[in-house]
Amino acid sequence: MYKPDIFQAYPRLEKSIPWIEMGNYPTPVEKMSKLGGMLGYPNLWVKRDDLSSQKMGGNKVRVMEFLLAEMKASGKTVAISPGALGSNQILASGIYGKDLGFKIVGIFFKQCPTDYMCKHMLIDKTMGVEFNHVNSPYLVPFMILYHYLRNFDFGKRQFPFYIPTFGSSATCAFGYFNAMFELKKQIDQGLLPEPDYIFVTAGTGGTMSGIQLGARVLGMKTEVIGVRITDYLACNERIVASILNRAHKKLSKAGADLPALKFSAKDVKMIHNFFGGEYAAITEEAKSAKKMLAEIEGLTLDTTYTAKTMAAMIKYLKDRNLKDKNILFWHTYNTKDLGRFLDQNLCGKNLPESFQGYF
Ligand SMILES: Cc1ncc(COP(=O)(O)O)c(C=O)c1O
Repeated sequence: MYKPDIFQAYPRLEKSIPWIEMGNYPTPVEKMSKLGGMLGYPNLWVKRDDLSSQKMGGNKVRVMEFLLAEMKASGKTVAISPGALGSNQILASGIYGKDLGFKIVGIFFKQCPTDYMCKHMLIDKTMGVEFNHVNSPYLVPFMILYHYLRNFDFGKRQFPFYIPTFGSSATCAFGYFNAMFELKKQIDQGLLPEPDYIFVTAGTGGTMSGIQLGARVLGMKTEVIGVRITDYLACNERIVASILNRAHKKLSKAGADLPALKFSAKDVKMIHNFFGGEYAAITEEAKSAKKMLAEIEGLTLDTTYTAKTMAAMIKYLKDRNLKDKNILFWHTYNTKDLGRFLDQNLCGKNLPESFQGYF
């Protein structure tokens, strides 16, 4: 039976940190020989977290394993989950939350239209997610507060659980902290060399924080570079440093014997200029990176997250001479077909009126 590597490294965590298995690990590591050949980089690798679960892959699986487990342990059954219309986080909360009998209250805000946006909404509906529309992301905090109060459980005297979009919680970083122990094992098994650089998408910063915390705790030489794909206010070096410190503190308090570490914004490396000005905006660089990777490596990327990160990585490597370095691209987008979750009888008309205009 699989057990998170961090529970093996720090046995006290197994008792103090809730975790529910949702994924299939380890995820494969593969060499991107063709892209490497094109760029003149012989050591270019990909960590295939797009295959992190048979159900729905992507980075949310490792996150939900800790987050929804924390929710279950708290005795709460209702979670507030804000996100963009096509949000992977609401989708994953819906799919994995349904298995646990949770009610997910979605707070949806507008985004640039993408090919997956409406499909995700219909799956959310099939999963029983509650639909609430908000016109601007800036109004989301008020909606969160409203639904927080509206879903207060008087019997248990409990507010609902919160699944964060703005500023990941410390728990959101645990999944990728654990993933670094998995990667270290793969390095020790000779499946790939220790990366000098890891490139990963940064949306709220939770994934990147977990990877960076893992790299530092394991004493790896790896520099982690996050590629920001959301507004600067939602994700930046200070936010990531804060998640790193909070995750370190929470893990230490839970019984992990970690080295003393303190992070500040200058310890965080982020690329900002591939965002495209608006969340989910489809940039030319992302479009061509998506097309190229599909053609030469057979990898499926998406234009909101991973193709922007790939485009940023390629530019970074072209602008520098790092040809003798080991580079890892962390794939975080689900590539499993989600069609089986779709209720074929559902269409846009089954959603509340404020959503129908998107179909
Ligand atoms: C596919 C995908 N990749 C990467 C990210 C970024 O993860 P994080 O929010 O932890 O920075 C997200 C988050 O929205 C995502 O959906």
